[in-house]
Amino acid sequence: MTTSPLATADLPAGLQWDADRSRLKVRDPRLAEIVLRDPHIITGVDHGKSDRAGALPPPGQAPTITQFFELWYTVGEHYHVFNTELRRAFTARTVGSFEAAFLDLADRCVTAMPPRGDLARDYLSPYFMHSTFLVIGVPEAEWPRLTKVARLVIHLFKQQLLGVTEYGPREASAFATSMRYLKHLTDQLLTGPGEEPFLLAARQLARIDPSTWPIAALVGQLLMAGIEPMIVGSSIACRDIWSAPHLRDAILRETVEPTDLAEEVLRQNPPFGNIFRFVSEPCDCLGLPLPAGTIVAIDVAVVNLQRTAAADPAHGCPVRPSEVLTFGKGTHYCLGAHSARIQIAAGVRQLVHGRPELRIDVAGTRIDTHNNLKEVRSIPYRIGDENVD
Ligand code: HEM
Repeated sequence: MTTSPLATADLPAGLQWDADRSRLKVRDPRLAEIVLRDPHIITGVDHGKSDRAGALPPPGQAPTITQFFELWYTVGEHYHVFNTELRRAFTARTVGSFEAAFLDLADRCVTAMPPRGDLARDYLSPYFMHSTFLVIGVPEAEWPRLTKVARLVIHLFKQQLLGVTEYGPREASAFATSMRYLKHLTDQLLTGPGEEPFLLAARQLARIDPSTWPIAALVGQLLMAGIEPMIVGSSIACRDIWSAPHLRDAILRETVEPTDLAEEVLRQNPPFGNIFRFVSEPCDCLGLPLPAGTIVAIDVAVVNLQRTAAADPAHGCPVRPSEVLTFGKGTHYCLGAHSARIQIAAGVRQLVHGRPELRIDVAGTRIDTHNNLKEVRSIPYRIGDENVD
């Protein structure tokens, strides 16, 4: 492996060479902004230069796991068309119309909680799965089966983050079954009576290609992007709320909006540790020559706190959302950011108000920060007097 000239270069303040992982770390908000807006520094695939991205499975067959990830619209040649159409379905106003349904769903999930268990498994996971299915327009009869598909997609995405690209026959076969179901469901949604904004957008996008695999892959992508970071983010928020009684009181007495509280918790603890980019052509946008192929990793927590230090979440977030990188910035700004904020706030509010006797074992809570997407290992809880162990 050739060593990058950046390994020995005199780097400007705000940049650091991570020798272990051979990547350039960005820790300064101004430089992060440049990275996220610079046309030479791109996301995973250079659109148009790859003939692999977007390859459809042969007729009658399901995509392989690798093909499925390559079908995600964010790495495909139709990114801009998809992006423009989808953004209309995820405006603050559009997703705001789901708020009452989110609150109702959260209440149902609060009521169904066993007296003790794991908060991520027993409350957050069903709540975020089902609220995301609502936004996508999936009828309730399909939720149990789609939950299994979502779990598999989330598992495989995490494997991918760990660099796993080989899969055993059992995993591949379970995946093919899931994909066939996802395609069948997508076709039903596209031709069915549903009028959710996402479905209206999906019907427009389905005109681009005679195959509906790209739309099935889009639904699959939202099952990952729209669920796991929310479980992680709200687990962190719940851990913090139950370890500082004044935070719970602030929600109960309604002196802080759960949205504002969660915004500050996530500014300090973003679910995605880094935002990655790749230098596609040599450039010097960051004040020094960057060779093509350089991996750039923006350290989200460091950038978030660089100008304004961590504050007490009971007073909300001290900076504007546009100054926070938790949901990214620029062209690839999180599609679901508005929805995420409303969903998380509804989930936290209903849990705090609906289960005042809930206790979380903060010492027993494990949230792993090794992978780029943090991972909730356990968040034990009890309701009432039962011990947590
Ligand atoms: C707490 C929850 C969430 C967090 C922390 C989060 C974080 C992010 C971040 C940092 C990015 C930018 C990635 C980059 O620039 O490379 C992003 C993009 C994206 N997010 Fe989210 N996200 C969350 C929830 C959601 C939800 C609910 C959806 C469902 C619609 C979603 C869908 C997406 C999609 C599709 C993209 C790619 C956008 C593009 O490339 O244009 N996310 N998210």
